[in-house]
Amino acid sequence: MPDARKPLISGNWKMHLNHFEAIQAVQKLSYLLPKKVFGTVDVSVHPPFTDIRSVQTTIETDRMEILLGAQHCHHELNGAFTGEVSPAFLAKLNVRLVIAGHSERREVFGETDDDVNKKVLAIVAQGMTPILCVGETLDEREAGSLEAKVSGQVTAGLAGLSPERVGDSVIAYEPIWAIGTGRTATPEDAQAACALVRTTVASAHGEDAAQRVRIQYGGSVKPGNIGDLMAQIDIDGALVGGASLDPDEFQRIVQWGVS
Ligand code: PGA
Repeated sequence: MPDARKPLISGNWKMHLNHFEAIQAVQKLSYLLPKKVFGTVDVSVHPPFTDIRSVQTTIETDRMEILLGAQHCHHELNGAFTGEVSPAFLAKLNVRLVIAGHSERREVFGETDDDVNKKVLAIVAQGMTPILCVGETLDEREAGSLEAKVSGQVTAGLAGLSPERVGDSVIAYEPIWAIGTGRTATPEDAQAACALVRTTVASAHGEDAAQRVRIQYGGSVKPGNIGDLMAQIDIDGALVGGASLDPDEFQRIVQWGVS
């Protein structure tokens, strides 16, 4: 039942906004979003690690319904991993959603499907929700290998999770050529890829998990294109980069249905 999937709009702040700017951004976002919005849409923000404690305190003190997210974590809970962040530490800060395998992590920092899968399992083990990112490069799309790439990433990323936990998870389909470029997949192409993600989940984890898992589209989402994307049957939300840095632009995306 697609209606059961509450839309999730997530703001990935990447390496932008220091902790002072992050506090201001979340306060402004909360001020701009009427309370009733949260009845129909889940909203998360994913600040840099150095901001998370400040944003957590702001969200909790002001009893905001905005969900706290992170952009990345290591898969081990503790250890000699200089510079890495434990998923247990994120859970302790009441982080609810953690992005795993963003294409920038895969392409720039060399994360493999196996690394991403370990992170997904660790995130779930800490009671948080993974946002597993998948998506093809332009070369892969033009070579006709979108299907193999995306379904391979979905299958590998979710391996070892129970159908129940898969159903609770989020998958973000983000064509790499559309990220930060101003180019968006057409709503029809985005729908086709998100339908492929859902079919892949169904064959590996069953129809129930596939109907419950939330699938986001990401890649140059803006106030002007969110409506057409959200109208697609298999698109249950958006992972927003650039446009989430401006609270006014982001709230217009979150409130796409409200003119
Ligand atoms: P963008 O980024 O909205 O700036 O294209 C999306 C993302 O990387 O998640």
